[in-house]
Amino acid sequence: TKTRITLLATTAVAALSLAACSGGVSGDDSATTHTMKLALNQAQTHPSFIALEKFGEDLKAATDGRWDIQVYPDGQLGPQDEYVQQVSTGTVDLAIVSAPQLENYNDDFVVFSLPTVFDSIDQQMDIFANKDVVGDLYTSLEKDNNVTVVGGLTQGARSIYLKDKIAQTPADLKGKKIRVQPSEVFVKMMEAFGASPTPMDFSEVYTGLQSGAIDGAENNEISYLSTKHYEVAPYFSFTRHLIGADFLVINTKTLNEMSDADRGAFDDGWESTWKNHTEIWKTDTDKAIADAKAEGATFAEVDNQAFLDVLTPVVPSLLKTDSQKALYDSIKAAEQ
Ligand code: GCU
Repeated sequence: TKTRITLLATTAVAALSLAACSGGVSGDDSATTHTMKLALNQAQTHPSFIALEKFGEDLKAATDGRWDIQVYPDGQLGPQDEYVQQVSTGTVDLAIVSAPQLENYNDDFVVFSLPTVFDSIDQQMDIFANKDVVGDLYTSLEKDNNVTVVGGLTQGARSIYLKDKIAQTPADLKGKKIRVQPSEVFVKMMEAFGASPTPMDFSEVYTGLQSGAIDGAENNEISYLSTKHYEVAPYFSFTRHLIGADFLVINTKTLNEMSDADRGAFDDGWESTWKNHTEIWKTDTDKAIADAKAEGATFAEVDNQAFLDVLTPVVPSLLKTDSQKALYDSIKAAEQ
């Protein structure tokens, strides 16, 4: 119902802004209301929805109503693998996409999905906010794609879960069909484990597990709970094989329509948003584990080093270009 109310509110705001334009005051920033659509493939209980909703409220207050964000959760605007394109054309103004979704546009984004790149969520968030390291990367899609990367949100550590048993070591994954994100890196990593990687969109994983098209998947505890994947794959092994990265992307033209003051409010609001998101993330992870356990899921600490020992030697082969290597090195240097 909350979504419906906000939808009604959006319609009212859109009507008002039309009225303002037809009144001949378009171009006068003070009178224009922009409600930006944000596509998200997570539920309303997910930290990203909670933090981004607040971003919209704060932005609206800080810009006297000139800029607002309407978050569409649950993949209402389509599968995540369409989001960058939607933002590029402007069908959607903003979206949260996983790092692999950006690989096709600039393969330097591969670096953020590598298992050895971040040791902790705090370290990851420091890098995402370090303009010396990521500044050029975030603007690299503007010229050809009209997409700007605003910044990153953590996905926490990703682990493997199966339909039939706890994977204690990589050997337990041999021959199993494991869903991966549409990404060469994730395919290569699953192959290294001896599994059979099956790329598919996040929205298809539940039915894939249910039908047996796949035997397992990998994700963080919070998404595992909010998608109810535990209902169909109840064995969660803490492999913590990498820390995942989501990015907020925005239509560049829309971003450039903001006055300097409104852009300042947007940037400040984003900084509060990712900080808030990181805090919620940390507390919600333990809660997600407890809640999924209460629903019947089994979680097991396994030999996480055995999984990393398989992946670590693969990393150099995934850094194919000089530009990827340079980004990796500059992240490592900044982490010192
Ligand atoms: C995480 C991430 C999503 C992504 C999903 C996936 O939940 O936050 O952005 O879509 O993983 O595995 O596809």
